[in-house]
Amino acid sequence: MGKSPVIVTFKMSLRDQLDTNKLPNHIAIIMDGNGRWAKQKGLIRVLGHESGTKSVRETVEACAEIGIKHLTLYAFSTENWNRPKLEVQTLMKLLVKSLKKEIKTLQDNEIKLTAIGCLKDLPEKAFNELQYVKEKTKNNERMTLTLALSYGSREELVNVVKELSLKVKNNIISAETIDESIINKHLYTQNLPDVDLLIRTSGEQRISNFLLWQIAYAELYFTDIFWPDFKKEHLVEAIREYQNRERRFGKTSEQLT
Ligand code: IPE
Ligand code: IPE
Ligand code: MG
Repeated sequence: MGKSPVIVTFKMSLRDQLDTNKLPNHIAIIMDGNGRWAKQKGLIRVLGHESGTKSVRETVEACAEIGIKHLTLYAFSTENWNRPKLEVQTLMKLLVKSLKKEIKTLQDNEIKLTAIGCLKDLPEKAFNELQYVKEKTKNNERMTLTLALSYGSREELVNVVKELSLKVKNNIISAETIDESIINKHLYTQNLPDVDLLIRTSGEQRISNFLLWQIAYAELYFTDIFWPDFKKEHLVEAIREYQNRERRFGKTSEQLT
C-alpha cells in the first residue's frame, strides 16, 4: 500500500480571498439585529448590544486587513432617541466603554476615528470620549472609521439647506453656483467619498434614514445574519458579491468595456 497523501492546509488571508483591484473604497454598514439576537437566546436586548461590539471590532480589523480605506458604521440614529430610556442610556455607556477599550485597536491598526451626526446631542461623557479618541487618532492614515451617532440623513440635509440659505442671504455665495460639490462640502460626510457598498444585517431591507445622498449609487447588500453574528467571513462574502456586480452609473453594459 502506498503512502497516504499529505494534505497541506493553509489559511488564506482575507485579502487573498478577494480581487484587490476591485475593492470598494467606502463601505457603510447598518448594524441591525442586536435586539432580536438577544431575544432569540432568551437574553435582554442590552446583551445583544454588548455582543454587537465584538462584531464591530472584528469588522473594523477585517476592513483594515483587506485594505478598505473608509468604513462607516451606523451606531445610533436620530430616531433611536425614542427607544426606552434605559436602552438609550445603556447604548451611550457602551459607546464610552468601547471607545476607551478600542483606542488601542485603532492605534495598532493605524485607523483614524471620525464621527457624523448631531454630536452635540450626545451625553457629555460620550461626546468628550469621542473627541479624545478623534484627536488621538487623527494622524492615522491606513483607514478612516466613521461612527454615525445621533445621525439622521434628513437632519443632515436640513442643516445643509439652512447653511446654504444663510450663505446666499449674506452674499457669501450666489444661488446659481450651488451644485452637487457644494452640497457635498456641507454634509457631515464632507471628507468622505460616496459609499460604494452598503451592508444591512438582520434581514430588514430598508435604509432607515442613513446616508440618503451618499448612497445614490451604492451597491446594496442585505443579509439575514443578526449583527452580533456578523463575522469576517460574512464581510468577505458581501465584498465578493459586490465584486460580481456591474456598476453601470447610467451607462450601458457595452459602454463599460
Ligand atoms: C441595532 O440593533 C442597534 C441599534 C439600532 C442601536 P437593534 O437594537 O435595532 O436590534 P433589533 O432590530 O431590535 O433586533
Ligand atoms: C437603524 O436600525 C439604526 C442603526 C442601526 C443604528 P433600527 O433598528 O433603528 O432601524 P428601524 O427603525 O428598524 O428601521
Ligand atoms: Mg433594529
